[in-house]
Amino acid sequence: MTGLVVAMDGPSGSGKSSVSRGVARALGLRYLDTGAMYRAMTWWMLREGVDLGDPAAVAARCPAPVIVSGTDPDGPTIHVDGVDVAEPIRGADVTGAVSVVAAVPEVRARLVDLQREVIGEGGIVVEGRDIGTVVCPEAPVKVYLTASPEARARRRSAEVAGSTVEAQQEAMAKRDTLDSTRKTDPLSMAAGAVELDTTELTLDEVVTAVLRLVAERG
Ligand code: C5P
Repeated sequence: MTGLVVAMDGPSGSGKSSVSRGVARALGLRYLDTGAMYRAMTWWMLREGVDLGDPAAVAARCPAPVIVSGTDPDGPTIHVDGVDVAEPIRGADVTGAVSVVAAVPEVRARLVDLQREVIGEGGIVVEGRDIGTVVCPEAPVKVYLTASPEARARRRSAEVAGSTVEAQQEAMAKRDTLDSTRKTDPLSMAAGAVELDTTELTLDEVVTAVLRLVAERG
């Protein structure tokens, strides 16, 4: 790999997307949102009426959808079978089901392959749950973003119309438990990752901290 890879992992609401895009913009790098790929797969499974309670059915169908991610940090895109799904993948139905789909090993194997294809020779900031541990363990810069559950829920409810902080906190706790206890590639901090707690920091402060890390290690 010749170009820089910044691996950005952490739970939902820790600020991964805003920070990753800010870092990519500042350094002229591409940006990949791997969560959007798991959401796109889930959107497709729901549309096809696949029984998500049946891991074998999910595994059997997961090779089918064509998932294409655009990597411009100013306007990342995501298409499934040619359909722009940027909006629907943020809906409550997809958010409520994505962790179940993402726990199926065949889904992970397929999407990790796709992610490695996009990463290619590098020059990219990649955000997710398993980037530093599985997708790109050789990344020279690995960041693990955290924030208090209250701060994460507050940020998310500010983004989602009509939601309360309490409801967000409960939904996130459920998703975190599923993501960090699944058998295949659970969310965990990679060896060599630097943990950044963003609870008391502004977006600019976190981006600056990551840029400092890149200058040291990249
Ligand atoms: O990042 P985002 O919250 O959009 O991710 C949605 C879901 O996709 C996560 O809750 C997790 O279940 C799954 N995911 C994953 N591995 C990744 C990225 C996301 O399992 N690298």
